[in-house]
Amino acid sequence: MKIVRAKDYEDMSRKAANILAAQVIMKPNCVLGLATGSTPIGAYAQLVERYNKGDLDFSEVTTVNLDEYRGLPRDNDQSYYYFMNDNLFGKVNINPERTFLPNGMEPDSEKACRDYDRIIEQTGGVDLQLLGLGHNGHIGFNEPGDAFELRTNCVNLTESTIKANQRFFASIEDVPRQAYTMGIGTIMRAKKILVVVSGEDKAQIIKEAFFGAITPKVPASVLQLHRNVTIVADEAALSLI
Ligand code: F6R
Repeated sequence: MKIVRAKDYEDMSRKAANILAAQVIMKPNCVLGLATGSTPIGAYAQLVERYNKGDLDFSEVTTVNLDEYRGLPRDNDQSYYYFMNDNLFGKVNINPERTFLPNGMEPDSEKACRDYDRIIEQTGGVDLQLLGLGHNGHIGFNEPGDAFELRTNCVNLTESTIKANQRFFASIEDVPRQAYTMGIGTIMRAKKILVVVSGEDKAQIIKEAFFGAITPKVPASVLQLHRNVTIVADEAALSLI
């Protein structure tokens, strides 16, 4: 596991964007696994900037996102589909038909999950998976539990995740209670993994996830077993290391 120390959020975003950009340059038809949440927004902005300068070409890139809320239509501004279009897909020359997220509007959760696994399989596998880190150690929406969920699954979000996401919705009642998420097995099959972490509020969980016991109670801890993980984190997030 490689830890890249960044000064602050800006620096973390630039360093993470360097790694994502290098992947696209070295393999123009790569498969990127992407994340939503606050942490990667700066890195996506950097990628858009580099695209605008003519330094990046997304025309052959395929993307698979980690997760999507269950029951939120794509045009809801809190859906992850909307987020990705707003922050990246709508601003670069990516082929929209090559951008995939779980179908949040598929009511049959078993079908939604199996369909998404098939889509990921058909891409040929993820070259570089970008991850954020939840305060409780979740990756994607794989919440702490008794076992690692291997495949795409439908999760009941924990109270702490619902509270953390409340800031994006008008009220806590509006926060969806379920999401479809890529499984830990799929995440672990990515050739390379890039974790972005920022802020003092993540310092404790960084310590537990990457320097503590490997346990499904801290889902991100499984990343200690992956052969090619880079963590780009700012000083505040690394303050307990
Ligand atoms: C988002 C996702 C989540 C977030 C995590 C951290 O697609 O899968 O695991 O990465 O909740 O969120 P932020 O970056 O908002 O702290």
